[in-house]
Amino acid sequence: MDLAGLTRDLEALRDEVVSAVAGTQEVSALAALEVDVLGKKGRLGVVLRGIGGLPTDDRPRVGAVANAVRVAVEEVFQARGVELRAKELEARFRAETVDVTTPGRPIRRGSLHPIVETAGRIAEIFSQFGFVVHEGPEVEDDLTNFQMLNIPPDHPARDLWDTLYVDIDGKLLRTHTSPGQIRVMHASTPPIRALLPGRCFRYEAIDASHASEFFQVEGLMIDEGTTLGDLRGLLDQFAQAMFGQGKRTRFRPGYYPFTEPSVAFDVECVVCGGSGCPACSRSGWMTILGAGMVHPVVLQYGGLDPERYQGFAFGMGVERIANLRHSVGDLRLYMENDLRFLEQFR
Ligand code: PHE
Repeated sequence: MDLAGLTRDLEALRDEVVSAVAGTQEVSALAALEVDVLGKKGRLGVVLRGIGGLPTDDRPRVGAVANAVRVAVEEVFQARGVELRAKELEARFRAETVDVTTPGRPIRRGSLHPIVETAGRIAEIFSQFGFVVHEGPEVEDDLTNFQMLNIPPDHPARDLWDTLYVDIDGKLLRTHTSPGQIRVMHASTPPIRALLPGRCFRYEAIDASHASEFFQVEGLMIDEGTTLGDLRGLLDQFAQAMFGQGKRTRFRPGYYPFTEPSVAFDVECVVCGGSGCPACSRSGWMTILGAGMVHPVVLQYGGLDPERYQGFAFGMGVERIANLRHSVGDLRLYMENDLRFLEQFR
C-alpha cells in the first residue's frame, strides 16, 4: 500500500471509531470497543503494521498521521468514558434512592398474658407493704399440701379440693398455694411477709367457671401481735389499689381448716357498684379471696411457737381477679391462646 492509501485508511478508521464511540451507551461496551481498536491486536495496530511496507522516506509522514489519529481516538474514548460513567452513576443513584418519607413496617409486639399481668399487678401492690415473692413446687407431698395445713387423711375437708395424684411417692399436684405457707415458715423466721404466686391443679369438670389448672396468689404474714384487724386493713388497701378508691369491702365468716377464724373477703360489685346485678347474683358483693388467722396447729407444723407468734394468710384466684378487672366471663379463654382474645390486653 502507498502513503495516500494508508493515510486514507487511518482517517477512515478514525472517523468510524469516532462515530462508534459516540454511539456507545454503556461503559462496558466502550471498554470492549477500546480493546478492539487500541488493543495489542487492535485495528489501529493492523493498519500501522502496513507502514513497514512503505518506502523509508514516507514512513515519518505516515507515522505523524498515525500518531494524530491515535491521539484523537484516545481522546474520544476518554471523553465518552467520563460521560458514560457519570450517566451510569446517576442511574444507580436514582435506582438506589432511599425514600426516607416511606412509613416504616410496624414491628409486631407481644404482650403479657392477662393472667401473668394480673399476678404481676397483685405482687406489685403487696410489695408496697413489704411482701416478698416466694415460690414453691407444683408437685407437692400430701404432708405439706394437706396434713401440715391441719387436714389429716380422711378429714372431710379434703373434699374441698379434688386432688390430682402423681404416681410416685404419694406425691400430688398442689391443689392450692397454701403449702407454700409451711415452706416459708420452715425457711425463715418472723417477721414474715411472703407472697406465693403459682399454678394449682384440681380434678374438675371444665366449664366457664371451673378449670383443672389455674393460678393462685397466697399471702402470709407472721409476727408478734398480728391481728385480724391488720388483715382487714391490708386487704382493704389491696381492694382499693386493684379495683379503685372508695370501694366498700366486707368480711363474711368462712371455713378453712388452716385458718381460725376464717373469712371470705368481699368487694362491692365492680359491675353495678353495689345495687345488685346478674354479675353479683343481685347481692351487690363479690367474693375475691379466702383468708383468716393462721391456725395454731399450722404455726406449730411450721416450727413456730403459737404463744409468741400470730399470723394471717389469704389466698386468691388470679383468674377471678383478672375476670373482674377485664370483664371476662369464661375461664377457658385464658387457656386457649387465641390471639383475638390475647391481643385485647396490650
Ligand atoms: N387455700 C385456700 C383455697 O384454695 C384459700 C386460702 C388461703 C384460705 C389462705 C385461707 C387462707 O381456697
